[in-house]
Amino acid sequence: MRRTVSDAFWDYLMKPARQRAGRTPYGADELRLLRTALLSQNLCSVGGQLVRDFEGAFAGIHDVPYAVASTSGTAAIHVALGALDPNPGDEVITTPITDLGTIIPIVQQNAIPVFADVDDSFNLDPRDVERKITPRTKAIIAVHLFGNPCDMDALTAIAKAHRLALIEDCSQAHLAEYRQRLVGTIGELGCFSFQQSKHLTTGDGGMTITANRAYAERMKLFVDKGWARRGFGARAYLFHAPNYRMTELVGAVGLAQLPKLRQVVARRRELAALLSEQVAGIDGVSPLPVTPGAISSYWTYPLVVSGGNAAALADRMRVHRVWASGGYIGKPMYLCSESLAAKKTFGTSQWPFTCNEPEITYEYKAGLCPKAEAGLDRLLTLPLDESWTSERVARAAEVLARCLEAKSPSTRRVAVNSRPVAAAPAPHSSTTGSPPIRIAIIGCGQMGRWHLNAYQRAANVELVGFADTNLSAAEQFAAETGGHAYASHRELLAAEQLDAASVCVVPAAHRQVVLDTLEAGVHVLCEKPLATSLGDARAMAIAAHRKGLHLVPAFKFRFFEEVREARTLIDRGGLGPIVSARLIFACDLDMTGRWYADPRLSGGGIVMDNGAHAFDLIEFLLGPIGSMAATASRARPLDVEDTALVTCALRSGATATIHLTWSVAAPPTTYLEIYGQQGTALLDLHGLTFKLATWQEWKRVPNPSDTKTAFARQINHFVGAARGTDSLAVSHTDGVRAQQLIEAAYDSIQSDGASISVREADPLVLVSGFTAANAS
Ligand SMILES: Cc1ncc(COP(=O)(O)O)c(C=O)c1O
Repeated sequence: MRRTVSDAFWDYLMKPARQRAGRTPYGADELRLLRTALLSQNLCSVGGQLVRDFEGAFAGIHDVPYAVASTSGTAAIHVALGALDPNPGDEVITTPITDLGTIIPIVQQNAIPVFADVDDSFNLDPRDVERKITPRTKAIIAVHLFGNPCDMDALTAIAKAHRLALIEDCSQAHLAEYRQRLVGTIGELGCFSFQQSKHLTTGDGGMTITANRAYAERMKLFVDKGWARRGFGARAYLFHAPNYRMTELVGAVGLAQLPKLRQVVARRRELAALLSEQVAGIDGVSPLPVTPGAISSYWTYPLVVSGGNAAALADRMRVHRVWASGGYIGKPMYLCSESLAAKKTFGTSQWPFTCNEPEITYEYKAGLCPKAEAGLDRLLTLPLDESWTSERVARAAEVLARCLEAKSPSTRRVAVNSRPVAAAPAPHSSTTGSPPIRIAIIGCGQMGRWHLNAYQRAANVELVGFADTNLSAAEQFAAETGGHAYASHRELLAAEQLDAASVCVVPAAHRQVVLDTLEAGVHVLCEKPLATSLGDARAMAIAAHRKGLHLVPAFKFRFFEEVREARTLIDRGGLGPIVSARLIFACDLDMTGRWYADPRLSGGGIVMDNGAHAFDLIEFLLGPIGSMAATASRARPLDVEDTALVTCALRSGATATIHLTWSVAAPPTTYLEIYGQQGTALLDLHGLTFKLATWQEWKRVPNPSDTKTAFARQINHFVGAARGTDSLAVSHTDGVRAQQLIEAAYDSIQSDGASISVREADPLVLVSGFTAANAS
């Protein structure tokens, strides 16, 4: 576009935006057209020119005769459905991996969303779409996820064969192509969002395009209350319809954006190609496949993490200031949205899900689309956009590689140590064909039994040995599983070829047992606390680090569903900035005569016993603790404290209080309360209850599984990490950090509750600093 003198003036006006890092989509052209809109003294599109021009130009670049503007992508999809005019109870098949904006219009139009599963590109799987067709099916909405077009040949053929309308949701796929055709022009109707993050943005806005004149006429009416504007006389509203009219201000911005769109998409493609080249050399991750015959326009850059837990990988990348997102929407839409899962729609009617009753009922629950449910855990997205530079691409790839490497040591050890045995049938495909992982349990008391039970449920695991100074306890375990029993861990390590071991002995013995086990080349899952002193914990962490082995502290809470849900809620900003939290780990256990109350074996009382879980949980959910003050007491006559109160100041400015006790007869079911400026979350062992500022009601997310299953998840994580198929979500550095906090709590208790500041948690420095000191 030719620049004029006044461009310099407009550029000057836009300067604050230009100084911002990242995307700056708006400039002098937008300002100029906004000025035109304002000077026209008419901002309503009825009688205006700018929205009309925007519609014309948008239709033009898509080479279709009709485009109708609206207020959002959600509205644009509603407009498309309004054109089809379904009957209440008609079904619309779509994908569960999308924005809720795809689904809202279906329900709003009294039709019923039916979810088909996805394929390897996370787009609709046409085979499952065909399986989900019923006599009530009216339409299919194909969502071109992340800019990658769906398999439109297959979907078009299905739609034709079953006489269904095919709507394309191109909200994330402006100018993407499928077999040389622009998306939005392949189905009967194409819908676009101009929300802030989209390729073409007006902040909010939408457009529906079509080549079908009858649809176009209905669409025009649909955005304008069904109003057939015929000049003077009685008004004629031809059918029920909303007001979705785009304003002239939005039209002005859209019109100014349009000439930039090709450039935006071309640059994203260039950068994505560069990133794909660099990602090709990284093990454990691969770009999401682009549909054959298609060219993506890259709303974001999606990847699949083969070991799963993309969210943890994204967290690690963010530490290096490379922004990535794990799991996209977290769960399939039918599990995210209460309007579906709990049928909270219109009053208490549960309409439209009840409109085909009693013959047909609809339930939106886990199991509807297994691939979508399982796949999101592996999905990582990088927010690539046209403002990225090739340096930024290279840095993203480098950090991605580093974070994958750091947490996924190779499977070398397993291969070296594994005896070739007949492969047991393996329920997980990732382990199919590989020999079972050889596990031992050291310490066969109550905690050892929890580990035993969980390993017995794990796939492709062989329990080969058990050690306990009380040999009969080890023999009991061996009798149940067929492994061998030993009276000491050293005998066990000498006799068995192990891949990994659980250490469940008393805490004072952790250091020696763990060091010996690591020395034997065996990965370790160590019960909490990792050690009875910070020095011991560091020595153990250094040994693991040097050997390239995992030393995983058994911080089971991280694997509990309510904790994961809370973490997602907090990470997404649902609770707003956190103000305070209250954690209580309380039970009624008389420790008289037990090792817990003998400081030579336990290293301390309740703070040593449950402090590790408490501190790890607080930092895992709310961020680092900066300082703490602690007091302790004895409700029972023990040699160690059985009750403690710790007040923590978090570096974020929030406060957390931690109550720990073995001496409360009736503890509350809620163990953690988190209060944010925008909402509150309450965690108990059966689920998460939360309420956001704008809600009338509390929402309850019950855990789908029991605590045994949650505990087993921790064991599966360890097995997967030891095998090299899963990246590590909790490591020796977390164990050292918890020990550092326990030590700070005891320091405070010994100084009558004085505030103790805790050094910034940089576990690598903690460990490597000690390495240097040790080396001399
Ligand atoms: C695939 C998809 N469909 C629909 C929508 C809804 O668009 P809007 O937010 O403009 O209503 C979005 C927006 O994020 C989207 O990504």
